[in-house]
Amino acid sequence: MAQHHFVADYEKLVAELVATLPIDEAMARAVGGDYERTGRTLCAILRHLGLADGQSLLDLGCGSGRLAWALGQTVRIDYLGIDIVQALLDYAASRAPEHYRFLLNRTLHLPVPDATADMLAAFSVFTHLQHAETYLYLEDARRVLRPGGRLVFSFLEFASAEHWAMFDRTVYALRLDALPHLNQFIERPVIDLWCEKLGFVREQFIDGSAAPWGDAPPLWQSLAVLRRP
Ligand SMILES: C[S@@+](CC[C@H](N)C(=O)[O-])C[C@H]1O[C@@H](n2cnc3c(N)ncnc32)[C@H](O)[C@@H]1O
Repeated sequence: MAQHHFVADYEKLVAELVATLPIDEAMARAVGGDYERTGRTLCAILRHLGLADGQSLLDLGCGSGRLAWALGQTVRIDYLGIDIVQALLDYAASRAPEHYRFLLNRTLHLPVPDATADMLAAFSVFTHLQHAETYLYLEDARRVLRPGGRLVFSFLEFASAEHWAMFDRTVYALRLDALPHLNQFIERPVIDLWCEKLGFVREQFIDGSAAPWGDAPPLWQSLAVLRRP
């Protein structure tokens, strides 16, 4: 089977960071930095959206476990983290509660039975995928979610003036032939179209500068909240 671009991208990034930085720093930087602060924000978002004791969460692109670490301190859930880099999964497991499960998956499908997740999160993941890849994960997310279950994912959009900096950086790197990571923008009408095609209800968009969860800082990336009817 051909290797997807995201595997090569992230294997390279993680290998470079691990070779040059202390492990905690490398593992934080691999997922965007600010491990504990961002972890608390991700956790606050899911709690705000109703994640509660006894529920099951699928964390797609869990990385080095910022979210798992924060959840472990606040709520007792059935957690499954999926990622494409084993070193990130190993580090995430080392900082998470023992009953949390972590799985390497390099396909465009979710290796999870039908209708078993109350919530599915994908933070800063679709920002690095092609639209058709994201679409396939969304399609499978609908299968994996229980009726009434929610999918929340973060995204970058040209409608946000703050997100322009990310696009600008990508252009700058390309000019220098630096072959940057894929940084993908998704516009709100595209998400609404995907919902229509896949049978999701789009419940809300949350601006990157807003923090309706109250007790943690905003995420900076925008959020889409989808519900499986
Ligand atoms: C920017 S990091 C964010 C990690 C984590 N969600 C967080 O916010 O702390 C993106 C993560 O997505 C993972 N990733 C990229 N493509 C993926 C895919 N197709 N399936 C699962 N994980 C993927 C990367 O290995 C990386 O850990």
